[in-house]
Amino acid sequence: MSDILAQAQTAATYIRSKTTLQPQLAIILGSGLGSFAAQVADAVTIPYAEIPNFPQSTVAGHSGKLVLGTIGGVSVAVMQGRVHAYEGYTMAQVTFPTRVLGLLGVKKLIVTNAAGGINTRYGQGAIVALSDHINLSGTNAALGPNIDALGPRFFDMSAAYSPALRKLAIHEAAKQGWTLNEGVYLAVLGPSYETPAEIRAFRTLGADLVGMSTVHEVIIARHMSIEVLGLSVVTNMAAGVLDQPINHEEVMEIGKRIEGQFTALLTALVPQI
Ligand code: 6GU
Repeated sequence: MSDILAQAQTAATYIRSKTTLQPQLAIILGSGLGSFAAQVADAVTIPYAEIPNFPQSTVAGHSGKLVLGTIGGVSVAVMQGRVHAYEGYTMAQVTFPTRVLGLLGVKKLIVTNAAGGINTRYGQGAIVALSDHINLSGTNAALGPNIDALGPRFFDMSAAYSPALRKLAIHEAAKQGWTLNEGVYLAVLGPSYETPAEIRAFRTLGADLVGMSTVHEVIIARHMSIEVLGLSVVTNMAAGVLDQPINHEEVMEIGKRIEGQFTALLTALVPQI
């Protein structure tokens, strides 16, 4: 058996020893969006530090807890915080939690992130449903020997972001009185933000948003045939779009400002998914 699979099974076994709940749906919360975890009823909270082999984030705003419980009667696993490749983690480490979620029986995954806006139709604080991605992170999450028990060596990415889940989200936002735009997310490695020339190039390539996360988890979810909904919060416009620099504090603050809207959308969506 592959080492990664054995390690993921050890982590899954540990999590199962803490709760009998079997999550159907998982939600990975991005920078500044961690407060959504408070919506989980009958929560069992496990710090990542306790889970065997689980990587721990070094970034402020990523608290590092797995919260299991229910939302609107649906069994969920919520990841409050994630690790990124720019922290120096390997692809095996970055994707480890997603593999564990798959082993726990999760069939659907909502990935969320803070992203820079490239498309000028988006304003700061906009929430965008991902229709697709462009992986320019320089690596691939499924790199390395294939874990045959989890999925095939080569796998389809043509509907990486489930059109059905996206439609539900767009419909729910409309019901709540606002427009959920769709967009293509381009992933870079980071940790530097982009230059204005890079952002102009990315716009030409068809990107609407730019960020440093998410694509790895989505690739691994698709490897395991998990359906994905991706949501970005535009915390700032990307470099050169506005005549102002980008700072991480602003990224965190916008997350807090749209918290209510984000929470209302997700809370209403989970029981429909
Ligand atoms: Cl402008 N770029 C990247 N790569 N990630 C971001 C961002 C920008 N804003 C928030 N996250």
